[in-house]
Amino acid sequence: MNSPSTKAAPAPASYYERHIFFCLNERKNGEECCAQHAAQAGFDRCKQQVKAQGLAGPGKVRVNKAGCLDRCAGGPVAVVYPEAVWYSYVDANDIDEIVESHLKDGKIVERLLTPAHLGR
Ligand code: FES
Repeated sequence: MNSPSTKAAPAPASYYERHIFFCLNERKNGEECCAQHAAQAGFDRCKQQVKAQGLAGPGKVRVNKAGCLDRCAGGPVAVVYPEAVWYSYVDANDIDEIVESHLKDGKIVERLLTPAHLGR
């Protein structure tokens, strides 16, 4: 009698090595949101730096816009997958460090981690 196979299929290769999402959400009612804290500038800087360093593309890095990621209290925020590491950044220097350290070399930038308790 044949038993069902328990052998797992091999995991597919990840299309991107790393994927970073920036919340660019803007609230028109005046409530706090990442757009009020230069999120667009952070996103633009990240795109520019990833491209300039030749990191963009399949098998490498993708930078994407996102809506509210529901961690507004830590905003502006960005999250990097597959590690699921959340960052709260302030300026271009922070973005450059995330690109150089995490997106390029896989080293988490501890000083920019979003505090675990911060949600919406
Ligand atoms: S507005 Fe950016 S996480 Fe909610």
